[in-house]
Amino acid sequence: MIQIGIVGLGYWGPNWLRNFAQTDGCEVRYGCDLDAARCTKFQKQYPGITFTTKFKDLLNDPELDAVVIVTPTSSHFPLAKAALLAGKHVLVEKPMTATLKEANELVKLAKRKKLQLLVDHTFAYTEAVAKIREIIKDGKLGEPLYIDSTRINLGLIQKDTNVLWDLAIHDLTIIDAVQKLDSVVEVFACGSAFYGKQSEIGHLHLKFASGLHAHVHASWLSPVKIRQTLIGGKKAMIVYNDTEPSEKIRVYDKGIEHDTTKPDPFFPKYRSGDVLIPAIALTEALATEAAHFVDCIRGKAKPRVSGEDGKRMVEILEAADKSLKQNRILKIKQG
Ligand SMILES: NC(=O)c1ccc[n+]([C@@H]2O[C@H](COP(=O)([O-])OP(=O)(O)OC[C@H]3O[C@@H](n4cnc5c(N)ncnc54)[C@H](O)[C@@H]3O)[C@@H](O)[C@H]2O)c1
Repeated sequence: MIQIGIVGLGYWGPNWLRNFAQTDGCEVRYGCDLDAARCTKFQKQYPGITFTTKFKDLLNDPELDAVVIVTPTSSHFPLAKAALLAGKHVLVEKPMTATLKEANELVKLAKRKKLQLLVDHTFAYTEAVAKIREIIKDGKLGEPLYIDSTRINLGLIQKDTNVLWDLAIHDLTIIDAVQKLDSVVEVFACGSAFYGKQSEIGHLHLKFASGLHAHVHASWLSPVKIRQTLIGGKKAMIVYNDTEPSEKIRVYDKGIEHDTTKPDPFFPKYRSGDVLIPAIALTEALATEAAHFVDCIRGKAKPRVSGEDGKRMVEILEAADKSLKQNRILKIKQG
């Protein structure tokens, strides 16, 4: 049985607690939070787990195999580094670290210690994103032309990150399923901060080596909740609406036929065919991810979102910050 410790039992941590408690092949040995009241609360719910306010208790236990870090972003690096140095495998929440330098150090350390380092880019584990990957793999989308993603609501304003690091990271995970973020060549971002120092509304524009453009609009200041990604391809167009309970994806046979051998006069022909709503399993992403983490520790699987993937994400978000501050397009080196 793989022994797991979960650090951070605030808003998101209890979801990990619940999912790992139900995952085969592992046992939750510890729950940890600086806040003693949270430990007491969960102790009642999970009497078989040891709850502690001291992260060191986890590090000092030779029986513990892995830690799951679900604390605020600025603490990801020191906690993950200490866990790796203590010989524990790590699954860390998004964003992996607050800086690229820290991400680099964790990737190198995990490699040196021969330990698993995974990052929770949750959407990489959703059935909807798996379906999008399948549609693309089957050639039904055709060449991707654009991605336009919106993630807005009256959201929880974070203290230590802006809205792009907190929300747009999910859109970037979805975008990565269409076109690997490794091939981003340009980043442009703009945003506005009305209440704090960090942008509460952000726009992020990415250009890929292939010519694909992707745009993300993220906001904590919207009266309505929208979680929608449009993916336009030459053969079809996908609308992914994550607020829909079951019919999350619609594939539209819509597009433009343009005979490029006769560019003049310009007469695009419009195609408007059927709409397909594929069936999607209602599996919780964290359940899939928890089982995958255990498989990776056992050497049965390769990380779906590795430390390297987490690092690439941080690199793009760091470039977005720079672009936002300097109001210019940032060039990115291809990974
Ligand atoms: N993947 C997702 O969809 C998703 C959703 C929400 C949050 N998150 C991520 O989860 C992380 C936590 O977010 P949250 O909203 O739960 O935050 P939160 O503030 O509600 O909870 C964080 C908890 O961590 C505890 N903590 C902080 N430092 C600690 C330490 N050194 N040792 C032990 N406990 C410590 C705090 O006491 C608090 O209870 C963030 O990285 C966030 O980005 C991910």
